[in-house]
Amino acid sequence: MRLTVRAGRVDQGQGVPVFAAFEGERQPERLLPASSGRDPALRQLLAGAGFRGASNETAFLPRGRQWVLVVGLGKSKDFSLERVRQFAGTAARTVRAKGQRALQLPVLNERGLGSSAVVAQAVVEGALLGLYRYDKLKEVPAHERNRRIDAITLVVERAGDVAAARRAIEKGGVLADAVGLARDLINGPSNLVTPTYLANQARIIAKARRLKCTVIPFLQLKRLGFGGIVGVAQGSAHPAQFIVLEYAPARAKATFALCGKGITFDSGGISIKPSSKMEQMKYDMSGAAAVLGALQAAATLKLPVRVVGIIAATENLPSGTAQKPGDVLKTLSGKTVEVINTDAEGRLVLADCLHYAKRYKPDCVVDLATLTGACVIALGAEAIGLLTKDERLAARLNQAGKTTHERVWRLPLWDEYRDMMQSDIADIKNVSDTGQAGTITAGKFLETFANGLPWAHLDIAGTAWTEKDKPYTPKGAVGIGVRLLIELMERWK
Ligand code: BES
Ligand code: MN
Ligand code: ZN
Repeated sequence: MRLTVRAGRVDQGQGVPVFAAFEGERQPERLLPASSGRDPALRQLLAGAGFRGASNETAFLPRGRQWVLVVGLGKSKDFSLERVRQFAGTAARTVRAKGQRALQLPVLNERGLGSSAVVAQAVVEGALLGLYRYDKLKEVPAHERNRRIDAITLVVERAGDVAAARRAIEKGGVLADAVGLARDLINGPSNLVTPTYLANQARIIAKARRLKCTVIPFLQLKRLGFGGIVGVAQGSAHPAQFIVLEYAPARAKATFALCGKGITFDSGGISIKPSSKMEQMKYDMSGAAAVLGALQAAATLKLPVRVVGIIAATENLPSGTAQKPGDVLKTLSGKTVEVINTDAEGRLVLADCLHYAKRYKPDCVVDLATLTGACVIALGAEAIGLLTKDERLAARLNQAGKTTHERVWRLPLWDEYRDMMQSDIADIKNVSDTGQAGTITAGKFLETFANGLPWAHLDIAGTAWTEKDKPYTPKGAVGIGVRLLIELMERWK
């Protein structure tokens, strides 16, 4: 795929020109970009087709000897970078579905959105992420496989904007690649994407970008006292892997520790889950995937911060060697945990990751985990659950969430919630006694092990997977967290 930039009009070069239109009173509204001129014939065609300009509405129309595509932007008062991403995703996917190979996308810097560089980056993200598909495991008919986009041209209005747009495109491309990597790992079934597979993936990223990669396999974890991970992993035939991937540029401004839950399949263990939708539990390593994607992107973009990815990769399965309800584990921190429910396994493996993070003396620790069904109930697919006592970190994550549209919503971490985790025989138990406030009590559990660190927990259970196709997120893995983390680290001062 070729990605290029030029200044001028969208209908001057190669590929399907894409126009946009707001939804408004006069239907259809004037076409954008404005430099494309008024095209009365095209507007008449649009009117005839009943085109309203609603968000992501499309009209693929003949004009002379070529096709043009018009995509709706919704109401102009609601215009945002997110609308731009969706616009680009919808455009690229529509052009591909129509069997065309190239398109020309305008960098719509309308309504004071920002610099044309920022908008260009959103266009690239939207288009590339929208074109993503996971088809390596099935035979795709030739006519389908041939439907692919070979070239995208971004069109800016002024020649002076070309250079900045070109840099933005590079960045958008790096981010889309990293999100694509995360999506591939998440969509991959658990018999392919095993803990060992994740470790090898980390090694591949490390080799290409000269990062440091250390992998501690199951038997060593046992010897070294990683009791949380070992407890979860001991029922499985695939050996657990503890993965540390470090990007350490000279003169780093800060150190980030990113912890990822990497349960490659969560059956629940002995506290087994119902079979309905259990196949989806391959996405229980979405936190780990986000961390790998973020490290790849941070290193490729040469961010001036040190980033340490810490991933606990294991399955959670029942067997004769599996841990049992009532078992007590000794975690890496030395604290003991009574395992009331083996399905609350994410917090057990993260306990060891968070404790391990301390040796890096990080300025900031963020963990990402598909941790609780309760978070899906509370926030659905639109918001990541944020739990932290660090106001500064909360504000920064909130801002990064708005910019990337990987939005976070904060829940309280009040100490009263800790009372529900009191165990009679261990330092803490892994579920609360009432079952209430599932996301918060999980956060309180993690806080016990992050103690003293500037730490935030992101529960991505509801946001890591989408059941429906979205403009730049096809059904399946979202790859959430990658863009959010990069945005957070980039803005760090
Ligand atoms: N991986 C699940 C959480 C989950 C549920 C993620 C649905 C995505 C969709 C986690 O390991 C889990 O099973 N949590 C339990 C905790 C409970 C036993 C306290 C849950 O949420 O039911
Ligand atoms: Mn579970
Ligand atoms: Zn889980």
